[in-house]
Amino acid sequence: MKVSPSATPENNLDYRCVSILGATGSIGCNTLDLVRNNAEKFNIIALTGNKNVDLLIQQAREFSPDLAVIGDETLYDELKAGLSDTDIKVAAGSEAMAEAADQPSDIVIAGIVGVAGLAPTLVAAKRGTVVALANKECLVCAGDFFLNEIDRSGATLLPIDSEHNAIFQVFDFNQAGNVDHLTLTASGGPFRSTSLSEMKNITPAQAVAHPNWDMGAKISVDSATMMNKGLELIEAYYLFPVEENQIEILVHPQSVIHSMVTYKDGSVLAQLGTPDMRTPISYALAWPNRLEIPGRRLNLASIAELTFEAPDLKRFPALTIARDTLKAGGSLPTILNAANEVAVRCFLEERIGFLDITRVTEEVLNRTPKSEPKTLDEISHCDEVARVLAEEVVRSLN
Ligand SMILES: NC(=O)c1ccc[n+]([C@@H]2O[C@H](COP(=O)([O-])OP(=O)(O)OC[C@H]3O[C@@H](n4cnc5c(N)ncnc54)[C@H](OP(=O)(O)O)[C@@H]3O)[C@@H](O)[C@H]2O)c1
Repeated sequence: MKVSPSATPENNLDYRCVSILGATGSIGCNTLDLVRNNAEKFNIIALTGNKNVDLLIQQAREFSPDLAVIGDETLYDELKAGLSDTDIKVAAGSEAMAEAADQPSDIVIAGIVGVAGLAPTLVAAKRGTVVALANKECLVCAGDFFLNEIDRSGATLLPIDSEHNAIFQVFDFNQAGNVDHLTLTASGGPFRSTSLSEMKNITPAQAVAHPNWDMGAKISVDSATMMNKGLELIEAYYLFPVEENQIEILVHPQSVIHSMVTYKDGSVLAQLGTPDMRTPISYALAWPNRLEIPGRRLNLASIAELTFEAPDLKRFPALTIARDTLKAGGSLPTILNAANEVAVRCFLEERIGFLDITRVTEEVLNRTPKSEPKTLDEISHCDEVARVLAEEVVRSLN
C-alpha cells in the first residue's frame, strides 16, 4: 500500500491542536518554535521527552499542554515537582507515551528518534489523526504494518523528513503512472571528501557536526555514514507509489534542492529552500495551507553554484547495504534498522570505530536468516534478536 494524500474539511482547520512526541529533540524544538510564533493558530495538547526533564518542564510551563510525559520513569518525581503548581497532568513510561499519542489532537508530530517511536506513533495512526512523520525508523522497521494501520484508520500521513516532504510537495499523485523516478538529494555529510584511511579515526564529536543541518546525535551519525540516505531510500519506497529501482540518490553538498521528481516527459520538479527543518515541519503543521516563516530566504544569486555528484559507494557502503535490504524485503529492513541503532549507540559510547558502524550492521544482516514478520509481535521479535546479535558483534570487535 502506498500513501495517497487527500485534504478533508477536518484537516483544513484554521486552528489546530498539536501533540509532539519527542518535544525535547531537534524536531520537537523546531516545532515548538513554529507554534510559539503562530500562537493564535495552534494549541499544544501533549508533550513528551525521554531524559531531558528540565527542558520538558520548561516547555510545559511555556505551552501549557494537558499532558506532559517523560519516557524515563526514574524522572517522574522531578517532572511532577517541576509542574506541581500547574494543572498539567504528568506521567512517565511507555504506556504514558502511548496515552500522549492518544490525546484528542488534530495532528501528532512523530519526532522520537529510533524504533522507540514506533509504538506511540502507531497509537496516533490507529486514532486516525494526521501523523506528521519525522521518525523514519517507523517505516524502515515496520513499513507495511505501519501503512496498513494508517490505511485502516483513515489517518493522514505527512512526511516531515525534508527530502520526502520535498517529494510530497511536487509529486502528482493523480499522475503517479507518469513518474519516471525520484531523486533523493544528500549533502554527503561531514566526510564527503574524507579518505577511507582518515575515516578510521573519526570521533563521535566530528561525526555529529553536520555541515548543513542541526540535528540530533543519531541522525547526524547516520548522515555521516550515509546510512541516513539508505534509511530514507526505504522510507521513500514506502511513502510513494514507485519501485526501488525508481529511487536514485544524488549528492548535492549545498542542500538547496531537497529532492526531485522526474516525469516521463523529462520534466523535473524540485523543491528548493534553505536547509531549515522549520519549512517541512510548517508544511505538515499547516497542510494543505502554508505558514509564514520569517527569516532567511533562498538567495540563489549569492549561492551562485549548485553542484552534484554520484555517491561514492566504496567509502559509503551503507547505501548499497540499505538498497540490497530493501530489495530482499521481509525482515531485513527491520534487522538493518535495529543493528544500525545499536552500532550508532556503541560508536557514540566510543566502543567501536566509525567504520565499524556499517561493518556491524552488515555482519548482523549476513548472520540473520530472513523471515516474513507480519504482526507487531513478530516485528518486535526480529528487532530484539538483531539488537542482541549486534551487541555480540560489537563485543567481538573489542
Ligand atoms: N533533526 C532533524 O533535523 C531531522 C530531520 C529529518 C528527520 N529526522 C528524524 O526525526 C527523528 C528525531 O530526530 P531528532 O534529530 O529530533 O532527534 P533528537 O534531537 O535526538 O531527539 C529525539 C527525541 O526523542 C526522545 N527520545 C529518545 N529516546 C526515546 C525513548 N526511548 N522513548 C521516548 N522518547 C525518546 C528524546 O528525548 P530526550 O531528549 O528528552 O531524551 C527527544 O525528545 C529521527 O527519527 C530522525 O531521523 C530528524
